[in-house]
Amino acid sequence: MPVRMFDCWPKRVVSYPGAIKDLAEIVKSMNKSKVIIFTDSVMKDFPMITNVMNDLKSQGLQVCLFADIGPNPVVDMVHNAVDFMKKEEPDIIVAIGGGSPIDTAKAANVVYTHGGHVTEYDIAIGGITKITPKLLPFIAVPTTAGTGSEVTYVGVITDTEKQVKFGVLSPLLLADVAILDAELTVTMPPKLTAFTGIDALTHCIESYVAITGFPPADAFALHGIRLISRSLRTAVKDGNNIKAREDMLVASMMGGTSFSLNGLGVCHAMAHQLSAFFNTPHGLANAMLLTRVMRYNLSSNLQKFADIAEAMGADIRGLTVEQAAEKAVEMVQQLCDELEVPKYLDDIGATKDKIPAMVERALMDNPITTNPRPASAEDVTKLYEEAFKN
Ligand SMILES: NC(=O)c1ccc[n+]([C@@H]2O[C@H](COP(=O)([O-])OP(=O)(O)OC[C@H]3O[C@@H](n4cnc5c(N)ncnc54)[C@H](O)[C@@H]3O)[C@@H](O)[C@H]2O)c1
Ligand SMILES: [Fe+2]
Repeated sequence: MPVRMFDCWPKRVVSYPGAIKDLAEIVKSMNKSKVIIFTDSVMKDFPMITNVMNDLKSQGLQVCLFADIGPNPVVDMVHNAVDFMKKEEPDIIVAIGGGSPIDTAKAANVVYTHGGHVTEYDIAIGGITKITPKLLPFIAVPTTAGTGSEVTYVGVITDTEKQVKFGVLSPLLLADVAILDAELTVTMPPKLTAFTGIDALTHCIESYVAITGFPPADAFALHGIRLISRSLRTAVKDGNNIKAREDMLVASMMGGTSFSLNGLGVCHAMAHQLSAFFNTPHGLANAMLLTRVMRYNLSSNLQKFADIAEAMGADIRGLTVEQAAEKAVEMVQQLCDELEVPKYLDDIGATKDKIPAMVERALMDNPITTNPRPASAEDVTKLYEEAFKN
């Protein structure tokens, strides 16, 4: 599956601790005057949001706030945002938060400027062809280091009726500007840091071993793995360590760009269903499946898994390629254990009765198409079953 054409980068990335202070100037340089900020219902009370709003206002910009957004954003949140935008008539969107507000902003931008229902833009039914350049300009400011949504061109939304996550996807949805400010991530508690960090690691690993194998995407993925291996533990233990936070934010961005080009794999296809059925946080869902899927995929490209082990810091000299590949699984498992990722899906309230429905949806989920080893219903069923203790 060669990459023949690619748009993979926002027009501008501003990346340094404290970068959020450039926001007003950036908005003004784009000749915009009315900002809608998208954030989530928890973060709206954080000083960082109040500070940004005050700063924009003090620099002569009009500002409104939409914060009716929660983890794994659903269709209704997108439409509520669109109704709010119709009243406020902003001329630029700024999303500040994790993947959930950033993705909601992407989807709301499409519906606000193009009309209709958000499900009509599902990539699985050809939604990409309906998205045109008439979108509002968009600035993305991540406050988690995981999804990479600030540099990807997909918004992931949950359809609660069908219990499925779907993607609104178009290269036109790339942010005009991504602002990477590690200082905005220091408020993440350890568990959130750990699980979003494993999401970034999953992007890098799935993208690196994906059948696509586009060399620039591979390079981004491998370096992302290096940064995460050297800094995720520190970011979890010492949340104020800006160097570690910066590494994680850059790694998350690199993972996002990498998977935009190479695609993902079975781990994401399965994790999406855990979130759709049990509202499992995205990073946690990936973390619980990652090594199981790595082991399933191992034989598809031993050398690539050996590269992952090396990028994670293993000394693979003297090992056979099989041993080195196995080392990658061991090292990821060790990281997950140190970060106290629960071992079994029973531990997070998932139930086995949903396996057939999750399998059916996972097989239709876009990431599965780039997995390095074909996965049948039987294979995915086995992977889910093995992740349960009872
Ligand atoms: N668009 C993409 O490319 C892409 C890629 C992967 C995942 N996703 C999607 O992104 C969503 C998950 O995003 P996420 O993992 O970033 O989490 P999130 O946006 O759902 O946020 C999770 C929690 O973290 C809190 N939070 C965020 N930043 C914080 C901070 N700095 N300090 C303290 N708390 C903070 C939020 O308030 C929220 O309660 C899922 O819906 C997933 O499907 C999108
Ligand atoms: Fe992800």
